[in-house]
Amino acid sequence: MERSLEPFRGVFTQQEAIPDDAIAAAVDVMRTGRLHRYNTVGDELGAASELERAFADYQGTRFCLACASGGYAMSIALRAAGVEPGDTVLTNSFTLAPVPGAIASVGARPAFVEITEDLVLDPDDLKTKISETGAKVLLLSSMRGHLCDMEALVALLADNDVLLVEDCAHTMGASWNGRASGSFGLAGCFSTQTYKHLNSGEGGLLTSDDPQFMARAIMLSGSYMLYRRHGAAPPETTFEDIRLETPNMSGRMDNLRAAILLPQLQTLDKNVQRWNERYDLIADGLSEVPAIKLPRRPDPEHYVGSSIQFRLPTLDPEKMLRFVELNKEMGVELKWFGDNTPVAFTSNHHSWKYTDPQELPKTDHILASLFDMRIPLSFTLGDCAHIARIIGHNASRCTSEENLR
Ligand SMILES: Cc1ncc(COP(=O)(O)O)c(C=O)c1O
Repeated sequence: MERSLEPFRGVFTQQEAIPDDAIAAAVDVMRTGRLHRYNTVGDELGAASELERAFADYQGTRFCLACASGGYAMSIALRAAGVEPGDTVLTNSFTLAPVPGAIASVGARPAFVEITEDLVLDPDDLKTKISETGAKVLLLSSMRGHLCDMEALVALLADNDVLLVEDCAHTMGASWNGRASGSFGLAGCFSTQTYKHLNSGEGGLLTSDDPQFMARAIMLSGSYMLYRRHGAAPPETTFEDIRLETPNMSGRMDNLRAAILLPQLQTLDKNVQRWNERYDLIADGLSEVPAIKLPRRPDPEHYVGSSIQFRLPTLDPEKMLRFVELNKEMGVELKWFGDNTPVAFTSNHHSWKYTDPQELPKTDHILASLFDMRIPLSFTLGDCAHIARIIGHNASRCTSEENLR
């Protein structure tokens, strides 16, 4: 075996350390003992409120709410958007479990929309599902950072009177034609869980330009009557009617997490560049392997390459598993979306038995040959080149074995 094809020894779940300034900010908060977001003294804003202001500015939106998780942000966004038990909510058929989970958490039912080979929402199927279901809300999951044509989507939804809530768990820092992912519809929902683009262990951010929507979301998040102390909230008068008719569904972010996130936000754009250097290097390597099909990344899309997806359409299911095994033996951790059993973070609509069973032949066909890999920033560019060689080697090996059968 050539030297560069020695097994890879890196750890795919290893994020970079929390930066020193974020650690120092966290220690400062702990020294005060005032970890709860409303435990402030005098006119102190508190880290949670400061983060809301800073993230609203970063996104170019008017309002922002810091909360417990990305899943929680989606769930209160749906409720604040007026979704009621029994309603149907449209969403991508290629997404992760917290997305249908957020829809189920408000008693609604997901209607899955097919995807294209570029892993984005299929606009034709969206039109069909809108007319079949009469749904009034789309929870768009820009899964694994793939943005659909956002301008075309916004126009289609406007024509059909459908509200857009964006799940931006994988697109924080991404944009379409220069406009931030999360700012195209009623709301953007972000996650700051460890594997995302900012890391506070757990955490979520919800953005919107709509004052009534945000006032409802703030009340839902468990603000008691302390909404005046928020960093990027609508004016007090907006809360007058809303505050007494909105339940408190506690899910606040605390000052400790917010303190860890504030300095990280300053380096987000720099990290996006670093992710993309790694992504582009791996994508270039894989594009030389004839059996591998990479999704197209259209020019208007400014993506964040924190993970990579590709397909091996010519392999049968047995060979797909063998491909995963061969890579694993060489230290490369791939997830296969065609697997019948959900593995860790990877699952597909067949595993969500609480949803209505749905026929999604196009999605099933695409997922059957789809592989997925994290690209942590702890990997060097040399690591990424090494990984691409291992994947390419195994793809060629499995496809030539397939041809010999
Ligand atoms: C596509 C997608 N949306 C939403 C979420 C929810 O984020 P959180 O883990 O912060 O609830 C995740 C988390 O893995 C995700 O992958």
